[in-house]
Amino acid sequence: MMHLILAESELELNPWNKRELLDSSIHHKIMRRKHFSMRRGRPDIVHFFLVVAMESILNKAGLLRVYIHTRNNEVIYIAPETRIIKNYNRFKGLMAQLLRERKIASDERLIWMEEKRVEELLEEIKGKKILFTRKGRKINVARLHEVMEDDVVCIIGGFPSGYFMTELENMVDAIVSIYDDMLTAWTVAMEAIAAYERFKFR
Ligand SMILES: C[S@@+](CC[C@H](N)C(=O)[O-])C[C@H]1O[C@@H](n2cnc3c(N)ncnc32)[C@H](O)[C@@H]1O
Repeated sequence: MMHLILAESELELNPWNKRELLDSSIHHKIMRRKHFSMRRGRPDIVHFFLVVAMESILNKAGLLRVYIHTRNNEVIYIAPETRIIKNYNRFKGLMAQLLRERKIASDERLIWMEEKRVEELLEEIKGKKILFTRKGRKINVARLHEVMEDDVVCIIGGFPSGYFMTELENMVDAIVSIYDDMLTAWTVAMEAIAAYERFKFR
C-alpha cells in the first residue's frame, strides 16, 4: 500500500469570514495588510493534489491512501472511492464545511477530519517513510521506483514556498529530491505514484 501525505497544507478558514476558506488569490490585500504570510491560503494546491491522486491507476487498484494534513494540525482522511469535485469553487465550499463542522454531513464515511499533528499521523501508519524535498538526496526520477517498498509513506509539502515547519527529518527513512528545481506538490505526487506503480505492477 502507498500512503500519500500532503503535509502542512495551507488549508484554513478565512478568519474574517468563517463561511469560506482563506484563498490568497482572492484575499491577498487583507492578508498583506494583516501581515499574513503569503504562503497561507492555498486550497488550490490541495485541489490539484487530490484530483491527481484520487484519479490515479494506483487508487483505482485500491493501493493508495491519501491524507491531507493542515497547518492547524488537522488531518483529513479521504476514502479511496471518493470522487473529488472538479469545480474549484464547489470544492472550496465542501472543504470549508468540513473545517467548520469536522465532517461532511452528506457522507461522513467518505471524507472526515481529526485533530492530529503530522508526527502522530506518521506514527499511526506503517511503512518506509520517504520525505520529498529539494534538499534531499538527488535521485533520477526514472529510478524512483528503486526506493519504494510494499508499504511506503510518502510525505509532500502542501505549501507554495518555504520549508516544513515541523522537523520531519528524524522521523523518516529516506529524504529524496527528484529534480534540481522546485516542483509543484501535485507533480511530485504524480511522480511518486507512477514510481510506486512501476515498483508494484512490474
Ligand atoms: C512547492 S514545493 C514547496 C516549496 C519549497 N520551497 C521547495 O522547494 O520544496 C511543494 C512540495 O513539493 C515537494 N517538492 C518540490 N520540489 C521538489 C523536488 N525537486 N524534489 C522533491 N520534492 C520536491 C516538497 O515536498 C515540497 O514541500
